[in-house]
Amino acid sequence: MKVVVLVSGRGSNLQSLLDAIDAGRCEASVVAVISDRAAAPALALAHARGIATEVVNPSDYPDRTTWDAALARAVATYAPELVVLAGFMRILEASMLQRFAGRMVNVHPALLPAFPGRDAPAQAVAKRVSLSGCTVHLVDAGVDSGPILAQAAVPVLPADDAVTLHERIQRAEHWLLPAVIQAIANGSIVLESDGPRYTGAKDNAATIFYWPPLT
Ligand code: GRF
Repeated sequence: MKVVVLVSGRGSNLQSLLDAIDAGRCEASVVAVISDRAAAPALALAHARGIATEVVNPSDYPDRTTWDAALARAVATYAPELVVLAGFMRILEASMLQRFAGRMVNVHPALLPAFPGRDAPAQAVAKRVSLSGCTVHLVDAGVDSGPILAQAAVPVLPADDAVTLHERIQRAEHWLLPAVIQAIANGSIVLESDGPRYTGAKDNAATIFYWPPLT
């Protein structure tokens, strides 16, 4: 399954996806990594692995709509079957949403619908919840509001701050995102126009809801 990954930052989720592919745990191929920021460390990571990289920087375009259309053209060049937002910090608009409708997934560091938007681990700490985690969901026009594909839960410990909680959540992300991409690749999750469908291999799909994974 051909995948284009969109990144804005560090790229630890990109790294975990590439590691899962290398280890044979994810039958996908990252054909390009595209960023809104030339300085994103994730781009260097991709470049070092010989993966095509591109920057589509909003400041090079007169407005968000034109930028979004340019991003859609850049992504479409690689004809991906799936677009993965892995720490991509921009809201997408009509060109991206229409062109890749139902074929775009995002990973978010909270158990949605709780704590959408930025600083989700800080929001969780501030609310003193005892359980948080990560969510992989389809991208729609809202902020972290699309249909949920899978979640993994982690505890929030009394001594946690936003940084320590985010580190724990990221360990779950690094497992969950490749697992969901594999589930899409092998047909355990089918992305249909009216939302995700879990196929006959439902038991396999269900195991991805827990961290650590149930065996
Ligand atoms: C992750 O925590 C993800 O949930 C959020 O942005 C962060 C990206 O981290 N959307 P990284 O760049 O993959 O390390």
